[in-house]
Amino acid sequence: MCGIVGYSGPGNSVGPIIEGLSRLEYRGYDSAGICLKIDNQLQIIKKEGKLDNLKFLIEEQKPFSHTGIGHTRWATHGAVTSDNAHPHGNELFAVVHNGIIENASSLKKELQSEGFQFKSQTDSEVFLVLLTKFFKQSNDVLKSISKAFSTITGNSAFVIIEKASDKLYCLKRSAPLVVGENKEKREAFVSSDPFALVGFAPRIYFPQDEVICESVISPVEVKINFYELDLSPSNRYKFQTNAMTLDATTKGPYEHFMLKEIHEQPKLINKLAAYYIKNEGRKILDDLRNFEAPFWHLTACGTAWHAGLVIKNFFEQINRQRSSVEIASEFRYKNPIIKKEEVGLFISQSGETADTLACQELCAQKGISSFSIVNVEGSTLFRNSNKNFLIHAGVEIGVASTKAFTLQVLTGYLMSRAMEGSLDDADLFKEIQLLSTRIEELCAGGDKIKEVAEKIYYNKGFIFTGRGKYFPISLEGALKLKEIAYVHAEGYAAGELKHGPIALIDEDIVNIAIVGPELFEKTVSNVEEVKARRGKIVVIGPRNSEELRHLSDFYIELDFEGLPNLSPLLVNVALQFLAYHIAFLKGTDIDKPRNLAKSVTVE
Ligand code: G6P
Repeated sequence: MCGIVGYSGPGNSVGPIIEGLSRLEYRGYDSAGICLKIDNQLQIIKKEGKLDNLKFLIEEQKPFSHTGIGHTRWATHGAVTSDNAHPHGNELFAVVHNGIIENASSLKKELQSEGFQFKSQTDSEVFLVLLTKFFKQSNDVLKSISKAFSTITGNSAFVIIEKASDKLYCLKRSAPLVVGENKEKREAFVSSDPFALVGFAPRIYFPQDEVICESVISPVEVKINFYELDLSPSNRYKFQTNAMTLDATTKGPYEHFMLKEIHEQPKLINKLAAYYIKNEGRKILDDLRNFEAPFWHLTACGTAWHAGLVIKNFFEQINRQRSSVEIASEFRYKNPIIKKEEVGLFISQSGETADTLACQELCAQKGISSFSIVNVEGSTLFRNSNKNFLIHAGVEIGVASTKAFTLQVLTGYLMSRAMEGSLDDADLFKEIQLLSTRIEELCAGGDKIKEVAEKIYYNKGFIFTGRGKYFPISLEGALKLKEIAYVHAEGYAAGELKHGPIALIDEDIVNIAIVGPELFEKTVSNVEEVKARRGKIVVIGPRNSEELRHLSDFYIELDFEGLPNLSPLLVNVALQFLAYHIAFLKGTDIDKPRNLAKSVTVE
C-alpha cells in the first residue's frame, strides 16, 4: 500500500527517494509524487499511474534538492488523479500520508467553514490544513504537528517537510514508519519500510505510536530527536542496524518475482526445518513443549488466513487443542469471547496488516498472550507480540503470496509438533525434507502444469474443491488464480458442491478437484457429479490412479506418499504454478496485479 520515502542531507534527495519508492512499488499503488525543497520553495511533482510516469517528469526537470519526500499512493479517499496524489503542500509545508483519517469529513467541513480551501478530495489534505492552521496560531512546528495529530482519529503515518528548514518530521499511529540515519554521510531518512533504506541508512529507528521524530542535519552531524505529543523528550523507540540485503530485488533467471519465489520454496523449507529443529530456533520451539491453551484465536487476512485454516487442522488433529480461525476484519468488530489463559495467534507475512494488528491489540487489551507467525522481523506485529515465530521467507516481492504461505503453514506445523514433544522424531525431519524434494521435482517438471494451463486458461470460471486438509488449499488455489489472472474462481469443500455451486457447472466452468488419499471415494463421487454436468475437470491427485485418469480431462499426478501432514503444501505449489501459467497466458501484470496491495495498512 502507500509507500513513503524521505531524505535530508548534503546529497541530492531525488536519487534515494526514487530508488526507495521503486523498491516499494511491489506493494501496490496507483499514483506517485515527490516534494523537493529547492531555493527555499517546496516544489511538488506528481502523476497518476506508474512510478515511471513520475520518473519521466523528474528526468525532464533534473532537480537538485537536499530535502524531499516521496510517496506512492493506493487510493482510499478520492479518485486516482494527480491532484489526489501525495505529497500535498502549500506555501509552508508538504506532507505525505499512509492510513486513513476517520474524522476527515467532519474536520474538512469545519475547516471549510473557517475559510480554508482544499485542492484535493483526500483525507490526507485535512492534516496539512490543520497543521497550517495551528502553525499560523502558534508559529511552532512541533506544537502544530502534535495538535494536528491529536485532532485526527484513525491509524496513520505522516512525514512532513517545511519551507523554513531542512528537517524531516514524522509520526504515526498503528502504521509502519521507520527513521534511518547515515552518520558518516550526515543523512537522515524516513520510510514506511526499512527495505527502502537498505544501502542508504545503516541505522534504523522504530518509533512507537505518537512519538514525533525530528531529523536535524548540522554542518557536523545528523541528529534524530524524539518527542512525546506533549513535546517532552521521548525514549519510546527501538534502534536496530539494517541487516537486510538487496538480493531480493533481482529476479535472477526468472521472468517474474512470483516464479522466483515459487522456486525458492524447496530451499527455504529445508532451511526453516534446520533452524527450528536443529539450530537457534530450537530454543524458541522448546518453550512450547507440553504447552496447552484452552483456546487459540487465530486471526489473519487473505492468504495468511488460509494458512491459519491449515494450522488449525494441525492443532486439532495433532494436539487436540481447540481453536478458531477468523478473518481479522471480522474478528475485530464482533465483540469476540476471549477468556483468560487463551492465546491469540496472528499470522501475517508483512506484520503490518491493519486488521490483523487491530486483532492483536484487542487480544492484548483483554489480557491474553499474543503469538505471531510473521515474516518481517521488527514489524509492528513482531514488536507487539509476546512470542514470535519467524518464518524466514526473506523479502516476498510478488503481491500474490507464495513462499510466505508455505512457510507459515510449516511454522505452524512445527509449533504443533513442538507442543506434542515430537521435534526429535526422525520421521519429522524426513517428512519435511521429502516435501522439499517433491516440490523441487514439481519445479523441475513445471511444463506439465503449463500444458494444462494452455488448455483451460480461456474458460469462464474455476471451482476449486477439496476435502479436509485440502479444503483450505482449494480456497488458496482459487484466491491465487483470481488475484493474478483476474478470472472468477471459488474454493469449496467438495461435499458442499451440491448445496449451490453445482448450479454453475457447464462446459465453460473448470473444476480443479483436489483428490487426496483420504476420503478418496467420496471426493471422486463429487468429481463424478461435475462430470455428469459437462464441467471440465482437472484432477490433482495421487499418482497412477486409473480411476482419476479416466474421470478427468487433465490429471496432475502428485506423490502423496510419506507426507501425511504436509501433502497440502505440495498440492498448493501445483496450484501456484497453475495460477501463474494461466495469468501468464492472459498477459496480466503477475507481480503487481491491478487493484491489489502487498501490505494492506488501512482497514
Ligand atoms: C494482501 C496481500 C495478500 C496477503 C494479505 C495479508 O491482501 O495481497 O497476499 O495474504 O494482504 O497480508 P499479510 O502481510 O498480513 O500476510
